[in-house]
Amino acid sequence: MIDRHLVTLTVNGREHELLLESRKTLADTLREDLGLTGTHLGCEHGICGACTVLLDGEPVRACLVFGVQADGAEVRTVESLAEEGGELNDLQQSFSRNHGLQCGFCTPGFLMLAEAYLDTDPVGDAEEVREVVSANLCRCTGYQGIVDAVVEVAAARKEQRQA
Ligand code: FES
Ligand code: FES
Repeated sequence: MIDRHLVTLTVNGREHELLLESRKTLADTLREDLGLTGTHLGCEHGICGACTVLLDGEPVRACLVFGVQADGAEVRTVESLAEEGGELNDLQQSFSRNHGLQCGFCTPGFLMLAEAYLDTDPVGDAEEVREVVSANLCRCTGYQGIVDAVVEVAAARKEQRQA
C-alpha cells in the first residue's frame, strides 16, 4: 500500500493541498505536482544547489527535503521573482547585465540563495558574497559575474532602504 499524506503548502503566496507520498522530495513536488519547473535538479543529493528554494525564508536544498516535511510552510521558488507581467526583478536583471549566467542551469538556485542573503540587509561586499555563493556549484561562469551581480544589487537595495 502506498503511504500518502495530506499536506498544505503555501508556494509563492498560493496555498495548495496535496496528497504526497512520504518519500517524495520537495523538489519533485514543486516540479511534478505544481508544475514549477524553474527549480532545477542536478545532483539530487545535496551537492550542487541547483534546487535551492526558500523554506520559511531560509535557503534549502529542495532535493534533500521531503514534501511532507514542508507541511504548513511557506515556500518561495524562482517563479516568484519576476513581476506579474514577466518583467525580471532587479537581481535577475543584474545577473543578465553582469554575465552571471551562461547555460543557466544553476541560475535558479543562485538567485534564490542570493535573495535569502539580500533579505538579511547584508554588508554585501565581494568577499562576503563570494563566501555565500560558494554554497552552490556553477560549471560555466567562473563565479565572477555572479558575485558582481549580487554585490551590485546589495548596494542598490541598501541605498533604497536608506532613502
Ligand atoms: S539537485 Fe539538490 S543539491 Fe543538487
Ligand atoms: S551557468 Fe551553466 S552551470 Fe552555471
